Amino acid sequence: MIEHFDPRQHARTYSKDLGTPSPAAGAAPVSLTIDGVAIRVPAGTSVLRAAALADINIPKLCATDSLEAFGSCRLCAVQVEGRRGTPAACTTPVAEGMQVTTQNERLARLRRNVMELYISDHPLDCLTCPANGDCELQDMAGAVGLRQVRYGFEGENHLQAAKDESNPYFTFDPSKCIVCSRCVRACDEVQGTYALTIDGRGFDSKVTAGQGEAFMDSDCVSCGACVQACPTATLMEKSVIDAGQPEHSVITTCAYCGVGCSFEAQMKGDQLVRMVPYKGGDANHGHSCVKGRFAFGYATHPDRLTAPRIRDSIDQPWREASWEEAIAFAAARLQAIQAEHGRESIGGITSSRCTNEETYLVQKLVRAAFGNNNTDTCARVCHSPTGYGLKTTLGESAGTQAFDSVMQADAILVIGANPTDAHPVFGSLMRKRLRQGASLIVADPRRIDLLKTPHLADAQHLPLRPGTNVALINALGHVIVTEGLEDHDFIAARCDTAAYRAWRDFISEERHSPEASEAITGVSAEAVRRAARTYASAGNGAIYYGLGVTEHSQGSTMVMGIANLAMATGNLGREGVGVNPLRGQNNVQGACDMGSFPHELPGYQHVADPVARGRFEAAWGVTLDDEPGLRIPNMFDAAIEGSFKALYVQGEDIAQSDPNTQHVEAALSALECLIVQDIFLNETAKYAHVLLPGASFLEKDGTFTNAERRINRVRRVMPPLAGKADWEVTQELARALGYPMDYTHPSEIMDEIARLTPSFAGVSYAKLDERGSLQWPCNAEHPLGMPTLHEDDFPIGLGRFAITEYVATEERTNRRFPLLLTTGRILSQYNVGAQTRRTDNQVWHDEDVLELHPADAELRGIRDGDWLGITSRAGQTVLRARLSERMQPGVVYTTFHHPGSGANVITTDNSDWATNCPEYKVTAVQVEKVSQPSAWQQRFAAFDRAQRDHLAGAAQRESAP
Ligand code: SF4
Ligand code: SF4
Ligand code: SF4
Ligand code: FES
Repeated sequence: MIEHFDPRQHARTYSKDLGTPSPAAGAAPVSLTIDGVAIRVPAGTSVLRAAALADINIPKLCATDSLEAFGSCRLCAVQVEGRRGTPAACTTPVAEGMQVTTQNERLARLRRNVMELYISDHPLDCLTCPANGDCELQDMAGAVGLRQVRYGFEGENHLQAAKDESNPYFTFDPSKCIVCSRCVRACDEVQGTYALTIDGRGFDSKVTAGQGEAFMDSDCVSCGACVQACPTATLMEKSVIDAGQPEHSVITTCAYCGVGCSFEAQMKGDQLVRMVPYKGGDANHGHSCVKGRFAFGYATHPDRLTAPRIRDSIDQPWREASWEEAIAFAAARLQAIQAEHGRESIGGITSSRCTNEETYLVQKLVRAAFGNNNTDTCARVCHSPTGYGLKTTLGESAGTQAFDSVMQADAILVIGANPTDAHPVFGSLMRKRLRQGASLIVADPRRIDLLKTPHLADAQHLPLRPGTNVALINALGHVIVTEGLEDHDFIAARCDTAAYRAWRDFISEERHSPEASEAITGVSAEAVRRAARTYASAGNGAIYYGLGVTEHSQGSTMVMGIANLAMATGNLGREGVGVNPLRGQNNVQGACDMGSFPHELPGYQHVADPVARGRFEAAWGVTLDDEPGLRIPNMFDAAIEGSFKALYVQGEDIAQSDPNTQHVEAALSALECLIVQDIFLNETAKYAHVLLPGASFLEKDGTFTNAERRINRVRRVMPPLAGKADWEVTQELARALGYPMDYTHPSEIMDEIARLTPSFAGVSYAKLDERGSLQWPCNAEHPLGMPTLHEDDFPIGLGRFAITEYVATEERTNRRFPLLLTTGRILSQYNVGAQTRRTDNQVWHDEDVLELHPADAELRGIRDGDWLGITSRAGQTVLRARLSERMQPGVVYTTFHHPGSGANVITTDNSDWATNCPEYKVTAVQVEKVSQPSAWQQRFAAFDRAQRDHLAGAAQRESAP
């Protein structure tokens, strides 16, 4: 008897298409025979899947295991003892005692007939077709033993149908389409975009994008799910058409966003041919977005830095150097600066783009070799309030759920996040749950695309004014408390009673009522009351939030307000609920876990804690500073003031990503030694004295930790372009400074992390290879990790309600600056754009624009496309206008993907009171029509040109005879 229940026991199920999805977990077992083979599978399994699990391969075309069965091609016909006809195996569920026959002459004839019809209207160019060898139609023609096509090829056909090559990454060749509708279903079921339809009937039926438009003009978001689902060469990656079929593959993790999708990197030698989302990926289950699947060309872009470079000052050209020379130069500079200006005069910035192991090494370098705690990371500018707020209230600085938990949610409250653009694969999963009937509440100044989800059951939008989050969360809390919607059992059992009572008294005050808050937030009291009732009464209420929560002067207060709401309603500690920060960068969770912050050693162990510090001192063989070091903004201030002289930056572009660009530029210019390790000459690197080429995620081994605390393996698929992975470079710098590091592989770094970090104690590469991924905490108590946090208790024992007084930001509108600017991301570009700007994703967004409401535009005589000067208290920049009703009047919006746009020239250095996370989301501005770039943009362009010349000059000189 063959038994198939836990797909994890059958890794091969991920490489084989089993035809239909697995049934819901926990279904009762059913026994049947297929071609005489006894098999036991969960009820709800299709006959097609049961047979495939027993290695009996029934021919199929319209079925694939990422999509619900459709039953259109009839190729999978079988016979079932005691039943009439030849049912389709893909749409027939197994039944107890069923006896199935999959092969006999009658079935063979039937299948050949089906195939004859398909092939009679299909080009016979298999040998020159790019899908040759990877085409299910070709495979099925072989499988059914097709030898002739009795209908001939002369009849009416679709062979002349025109190709659509509008998408930069894939082609649509309708002459090869068999109208199986797998693409349409993939777009609907998996991606949730509904961009494709089957138009017409019978012979005339055909796949169309949008209203018969080109793919690029339709709603298609280029996720590629249809391309992956297509069994023929109709939808085909251009990279495969150009390079030919891949020969081998390596499973690795996307390096773009915090979803952490797993991919098969399909290779031809060292050439990456395509990225195919991995079905066994626990975060993405075989889905992806345009960035992870298609935007990998940057890894081999000619702009990649491939040799180290050094120079004495930033107005000089660089000189190409060997690795040894560059590292010795950097180390000598750091030592000389410390000798002259003291131990605290240097520091390092770790990267949320690099692996856990690399991040761990950089903070270790700073603490052990630099001898201070001047280490920080870009989470400072995104999710540091999450760390502070969740640690204070729930005792753990991380989201509480796995992504899959959203499928159990009944009400989904999304605050200051835009999942379909910034976390697209999770956005698709969320949309799936919303289509199933969960209620959606979006608190956001903009009408985000999630609100336009097709077949949405119940959607509420709370269009609050930027900067008023805390007033809104308090109003929601007020309704929950005053309308008796609390979960008293949960509060009594799990929360600190005194803190709860204090919060209850505070939140019940009339000044927090929706009616009193309406004037502050701009959201009607009625809408707030309805939203609070929906969240609190739905059953499972889940909160997802993003940078629209954290990047405020009250970011930490708001995170605590969110935790208060979840505790008050008992929405913690089980599937379908929770408090879920949507982390932006691929490894921002990991960068925080690995001790990047100046006050915390790996695993959030405070540097002042003598026991924790003692363990690190013993392992690292040094005495560690017990005082927190400088945060990034403190480093900038100290550099300008003159006490901070040198900085090592691995894989971060602080000159583009941090607020108040002119202040950052002044700080970087003031440094005596800036060492930048990156794959490109980014904006920060233009101020560098030492350039150390970085390695892309394809060029190294390691791990990333995604937004659900999931540790995923990153595997090297090609050698580092400059010869070294980033961890090797950090190690060599440490050695040059006289501090020994002798790792031979990142797995040894992870072993050290596991020894020193309680939440990682059970993590090893061997276990990751065996399990696929692990969600921390992973230790003796939870050897396979923990998908849901706080099931029985909180790490601090009882949950602590926090008082969340609303304090208006100092950044106010007035007559001079009457509009509020807020910033965000779009789907096709990623963060500072260093990677995506070097791919064909540019076709979707080749410049940052300023979105504003038509009413604000009309008032100022602005038309769509006009150049606008945008002035804030910090600076001025110029962007093109885009009129959009997604904005509310009085609020304008832009992205920060292009350095020359200077979005951060206008953002101020206001920041979160607890963590210094900048207030990117609220800047008071004025806009007016202008005709030329701003003064900053002109200076930027000149400096950019000069630094590129310095780089090119170095290359030319080195190649000169
Ligand atoms: S494009 Fe591909 S997946 Fe879509 S209907 Fe045609 S053959 Fe099927
Ligand atoms: S690429 Fe994605 S969004 Fe576009 S049509 Fe295909 S499945 Fe739909
Ligand atoms: S959703 Fe994020 S992790 Fe997944 S493919 Fe897209 S960018 Fe990569
Ligand atoms: S595979 Fe079952 S009907 Fe097409």
